[in-house]
Amino acid sequence: MTQDEMKQKVAEAALKYVKAGTVIGVGTGSTANMFIDALVSMKDSIRGTVASSKATAERLAGHGIPVLDLNEALSQVDSLSVYIDGADEFDGGRNLTKGGGGALTREKITAAASDQFICIVDETKKVEYLGVFPLPIEVIPMARELVAGVAKKLGGRPVLREGFTTDNGNIIIDVHGLKIANPRGMEDELNSVPGVVTNGIFSHQGADVVLVGTPSGVQLID
Ligand code: A5P
Repeated sequence: MTQDEMKQKVAEAALKYVKAGTVIGVGTGSTANMFIDALVSMKDSIRGTVASSKATAERLAGHGIPVLDLNEALSQVDSLSVYIDGADEFDGGRNLTKGGGGALTREKITAAASDQFICIVDETKKVEYLGVFPLPIEVIPMARELVAGVAKKLGGRPVLREGFTTDNGNIIIDVHGLKIANPRGMEDELNSVPGVVTNGIFSHQGADVVLVGTPSGVQLID
């Protein structure tokens, strides 16, 4: 089975977490795109969606699925019922690295506004320690060298994502070579540096359920 076929299976499996009449959060990336395509079958039963990026909003709208601004949604409902998104890595504690597509900040906000986070990944994303995939940090441009210096002190190799601007108008620094044994501590430490908007460790907003696509079917970690 190819990686795309495994992604397709978990994307379809996530549909069962979508409850009729609710507003749901929708993630960004190739696996989330497969989920969006599958969601078309339920578009008349949900109240709406909140998108974690401009690209996702465009894809949802292109399918005729209603898209709400998060503030608008939270003036109508107390919370989003579920957030469904992929990840770049996951560990045994359901901590994630995200932001390969650069949407980490809006993804973290949408996850925080949701009652439940269902993460959809294929088995190649499993790691013992986060950090095998370079850790993305969204940074206000003025703070680029300050944040890069902190990343070096933490043992990483910061690389500016060339030619990339986030949906929020900021830059991304990808930090290579970290072995993240304490995801929550590292998430907090990096987020405490002035100029960091957020980093791609999702420990506070870790997944409630990870659906893992494997050649033998979809496994559930909760
Ligand atoms: C987007 O910014 C990321 O957080 C994605 O969720 C992550 O990169 C997973 O992408 P794929 O589903 O394309 O592997």
